[in-house]
Amino acid sequence: MSSGTMKESHSQWSSRMGFMLAAAGSAVGLGNIWKFPYMAGEMGGSAFVLTYLICMFLIGLPILVMEWLIGRRGQKNPIHTMEDVAKAEGRSPEWRWVGIIGVLGSFLILSFYSVIGGWATDYIVLAGKGAFLHANAHDTEQIFNSFLGNVNHLLTWHTVFMAATAFIVALGVGSGLERACKVMMPGLGVLLLGLVAYAYWVSGPAFGEAFRFLFTPNWSALSSTAILAALGHAFFSLSLGMGIMMAYGSYLGKEVNLLSTARTVVILDVLVATLSGMAIFPLVFANGLQPGSGPGLIFVTLPIAFGSMTGGTILGVLFFIFLTFAALTSSISLLEPTVELLEEKTRLGRKSATFLSSLLIWVLGIACLLSFNAWADVKLFDKNIFDLLDYVTSKLLLPVTGLGTIIFGAWMMKQRVIQQELNLNNFWFAIWEGLTKLVIPVAVVAILIYGFWPEK
Ligand code: PFF
Repeated sequence: MSSGTMKESHSQWSSRMGFMLAAAGSAVGLGNIWKFPYMAGEMGGSAFVLTYLICMFLIGLPILVMEWLIGRRGQKNPIHTMEDVAKAEGRSPEWRWVGIIGVLGSFLILSFYSVIGGWATDYIVLAGKGAFLHANAHDTEQIFNSFLGNVNHLLTWHTVFMAATAFIVALGVGSGLERACKVMMPGLGVLLLGLVAYAYWVSGPAFGEAFRFLFTPNWSALSSTAILAALGHAFFSLSLGMGIMMAYGSYLGKEVNLLSTARTVVILDVLVATLSGMAIFPLVFANGLQPGSGPGLIFVTLPIAFGSMTGGTILGVLFFIFLTFAALTSSISLLEPTVELLEEKTRLGRKSATFLSSLLIWVLGIACLLSFNAWADVKLFDKNIFDLLDYVTSKLLLPVTGLGTIIFGAWMMKQRVIQQELNLNNFWFAIWEGLTKLVIPVAVVAILIYGFWPEK
């Protein structure tokens, strides 16, 4: 998304397709394939999944539309957009803080995102070497654990992933990457469908068990932690609350229909996440693995499938290549806000700003990477560094900035203009207003209070 990348490809953005690709590229990533399944596993399945689905459509979609809408009006980077649109509406320029906190969120998220992106990249090599051939659950667990214990190894791949991200952003070739994704994304989709079919084929009754685990309502398992996690994940998954979608919106042509475009992005995002769940959980149950085993879930389960199917080596390599690409189109969008801020606030040029931002994020990433081994016991508020970064960003920063965006759009902006932008008749606009003025702010505040309330 960069100013660099986006400006360079400005004309392409007037096409709905180019915009969709970039937005979906940022949204679909590790959040769908790595994070969603392991969170669902940890939070007891369906109660989390269904809450996440409700949050995606009822809260995420309107906020996505609002970010694009504000961005399209502001035509600048998120901090200045918020400031300018606020001034134009006769409001305080301090609304820029929504943009500032967003930048902080993207900085923190990228530090751990890059570590996991590094895992995905390394798994291309592992799969290619045939490391998973005929491996059972015990073997893949062992491979993953020894991998986690090897600091140099993790550091190498974190560095590779971060360097690749920096390279793409510095050279402003993000639009090239997005075009590559035109091939990669459908490829990933087909492969995921294939994996679901494979899981159905090999795991017998475990497939039904997985389906029930993920989708049959079991509200008794619903905890305040799970609701907060589901809300936070809806934001994370749609790249909301970081001004990233707002920046995309600033390059959006007037003719693009925000609501229908947002609907497509949300559906796509949800589909990738749920398909990943249905590829993974049948294998979890069929192999007696723990659904709540945490961040290693896909790295332990999917290799079992690749190890035992015909052509599994090549499919495994392809899968992790696609996953790495999906992660890269998200990570470049995460790096951009920090680079832009540095470029603006210092005298650094684009390349130096990219280098410095990446260096800072890389260093924080090392602390995060060590929390899987040498610093596993270094804890703050009972959380290791990785968990803490994830917790603070997804459960606090993103919902808070998302809340700021929706309150700004619904209460501070002239609603007549919004109705025109969305092209809604009075009936549908009344529903939109009800949602954005009341339902969403109240729901987000309630979930935040409920989620952070001490000791239940
Ligand atoms: N949405 C991305 C994913 O689900 O992997 C992650 C992400 C990208 C989060 C960009 C936030 C963001 F601004």
